[in-house]
Order: sequence, then C-alpha cells, then structure tokens
Amino acid sequence: MILIDGKKVAADVRAELKEETAEFEARYGRKVGLAVVLIGEDPASQVYVRNKIRACEEAGIRSFAHYLPADVSQKSAEELVLSLAADENVHGILVQLPLPKHLDAERILACIPTAKDVDGFSAENVGKLALHEEGTVACTPFGVMELLTRYGIDVRGKRAVVVGRSNIVGRPMALLLLNADATVTVCHSRTQDLRGECARADILIAAIGKPKFITADMVKDGAVVVDVGINRVDGKLVGDVDFEEVSKKASFITPVPGGVGPMTIAMLLKNAVACAKRIVK
Ligand code: GUN
Repeated sequence: MILIDGKKVAADVRAELKEETAEFEARYGRKVGLAVVLIGEDPASQVYVRNKIRACEEAGIRSFAHYLPADVSQKSAEELVLSLAADENVHGILVQLPLPKHLDAERILACIPTAKDVDGFSAENVGKLALHEEGTVACTPFGVMELLTRYGIDVRGKRAVVVGRSNIVGRPMALLLLNADATVTVCHSRTQDLRGECARADILIAAIGKPKFITADMVKDGAVVVDVGINRVDGKLVGDVDFEEVSKKASFITPVPGGVGPMTIAMLLKNAVACAKRIVK
C-alpha cells in the first residue's frame, strides 16, 4: 500500500507556483492578485480563509481580504463583488461558502466574471468542463486529479466510482475522470446497490461527508482510494473512509488529514495564477 502524501505534493505545487508568480511580477510589474470574501463568522470558514490568505502570501500572490458581517445586505455583498470584478489588481475572486442563510449565494456568485472565477463554480466554467474545453476547474476535484497524476496513476479505461454528487466535488470530479478516459459511475443517497458499485471500483473517490462511511467490504483488493471527506468527530478530523481497515486492501490511499485537503488550497493558487495569465494576455 502506498500512502498518497498530499502535504508533499501541495508543497511541490506551491513551490512551482512561486517561480511562476515571480516571473509574472517581473513581466507585468504587478503581482497576481486574489480577492477572498468571507461573510459572517462560520468558524470552519474562518480557518479556511486564514489558510488561503497565508498560502497566497507564501506563493507571492497579493491577497485582498474582505470580511463582511453576517447581517450584510444582499445589495452590499453584490456591490463588493462587482467592485472586485472591476479592479485591475484583482485577477481572481473567491467568495467563501456557505453564506449566511438570508443571502442568495447564486446571485452573489453570478457577480464574479468567469475570467476571475478561481473556484470554477460559474455555469460557464462548469459548462466548459462538461464539454471537455479549457476553463477553471473546482479546486478540490482538480487537486484529486493532480494527486493521481503525480503518483503515476493512469485512470484511462479504469472503472472509477465517485460517491457523492455535490456541485463542489462529486459532479466536477466525475467529469474530470470522464475527460481522462475513465469509465465513470456516480453514486449517491438514492443508489440501490452502493456496496456493489463501490466494490467494482478500480478508483474509488469518497465525497459523501459521513465519517468512515466507506468500509473495507466496499473496496476491491488493489483499488486506489481517495478520501475527500473532512468530518470533525470528538475534535478530531476523520475522513469518509475507514482508513484503518480500507488501507489493508488499497494499492494507494489518501489519509485524512494530509491527503486531499492540502491540495485544495494549492490548486486555488494555481487557478489564480492561470486566471491572471489569461487576463493579462
Ligand atoms: N467551501 C468549501 N469548499 C469551498 C471551496 O472550494 N471554495 C469556496 N469558495 N468555498 C468553499
């Protein structure tokens, strides 16, 4: 069994990006700029945003942090995003999700121009992914593909099973695997024979959001297992995979923490640099 070291791969990606951002600055006389908008006080979001901003600085990206109170109006939130859309120093805009309930997230995200959509959440970027055209891909599934590539795992012709169909992970993950020529099955809460579907997978991606949901009896011997889950149980981070048992059967497996998690931020930075390069070209 090979443990996939997401921390190491993320550090490699970030080191490569540091060179790219330095080149960008030398050529265009300004830094790559990423705006991060946090609305409200969700504790997990506060941690994510802090980490994203720190990672920007380390990679030579200028960050523009905007903190809005939980009771901000729809209009003020949209106005902030529109002002960032018009700001030449900002090449990417990220609105941390989830948003407070009274806000219409779709309408706020719609204020982000596709060229600055570093999360790849816009209908246009999702459409490009579905059409197998170049665009920005959501950071977490993009990070999973980067891990598979860097560990020499060829998905072509393989049976890939994605458990979960969220817009942020499951759906784009399935499209990326399809674009890489895997034979893809998407499972979800209504799937009839979930155990059977998972047990046929050469590559199993768990993105359900339930601690230790994937047990050893659901995994084929020699399968590649990628755990996208981040669940807090008794103050500890636990994935969607029962790591202790499943790791005995897997050929490759990602741990939680230290697997997919660190890749999400690394790919966000990669997307920001790619957006900046496309904008200035
Ligand atoms: N909340 C959880 N994951 C993400 C993400 O990838 N991007 C944003 N903007 N919010 C998130």
